[in-house]
Amino acid sequence: MRLTLRTTEREVAAAAAERVAEVLAADAAAVLGLPTGRTPMRLYRLLARLGDEGALDFGRATTFNLDEFLGIGPDHPGSYHAYMRQHLFAHVNLPSARAHLLRGDAADPERECERYETDIEAAGGIDLQLLGIGANGHIGFNEPGPCLCARTHRAMLRPSTRRANALFFGGNAEAVPQEALSMGMGTILKARRIVLMATGKSKARAVARIVSGPLTTRLPASFLQLHRHVELICDRAAAALISDE
Ligand code: GLP
Repeated sequence: MRLTLRTTEREVAAAAAERVAEVLAADAAAVLGLPTGRTPMRLYRLLARLGDEGALDFGRATTFNLDEFLGIGPDHPGSYHAYMRQHLFAHVNLPSARAHLLRGDAADPERECERYETDIEAAGGIDLQLLGIGANGHIGFNEPGPCLCARTHRAMLRPSTRRANALFFGGNAEAVPQEALSMGMGTILKARRIVLMATGKSKARAVARIVSGPLTTRLPASFLQLHRHVELICDRAAAALISDE
């Protein structure tokens, strides 16, 4: 696992943008896996700017988002569809037919999960999977628990995760859906390259446990230890508890 330490959130976003640029420079038709949440917002602003300046071209790229809330449609302001339109898709030349997200309003959620796995495979798999991390170590909506799911699945959200997502629902955690659809751990680990961004002191414990803790379903992100091409990009606050041993 490669650890990249930066001082500020802004520098974390800049380092992640460089990785996206590298991947698109190597293959303009690359497949990117995208996260939501507060952490990637700066990254998306940077990518939009690079797109404007003509330094990045999404014209042949494909994207797959990690997850979506269950029971709400793409036009719901709290949906990750809305988030992606607002923060990235409205600002770059990515063809909408190649911007893939799970449908939270699918009539048959299990079938929707299968469709997503098939679509990822049909696109040739994910070249670069970008990730954020929950304070409890979740990635996508793979929450800590006695077991983890390999494939895209329907997930129950922890109260702390619903609180952390309240921002997208007018600050009201009760309005955050109780369930979501999420890529599974196997879906994520199949990506050829993974970059996890962590910023702020609320992520410090989880980050330290990824780096030196045991592999455990109680910290889903610890499974990244199994991947051969993972980079953790952290700001100073998120890296504060990593020990030097
Ligand atoms: C949500 C998303 C995750 C994200 C996490 C952290 O639960 N499903 O993909 O990594 O939030 O969000 P933030 O970046 O806002 O701390």
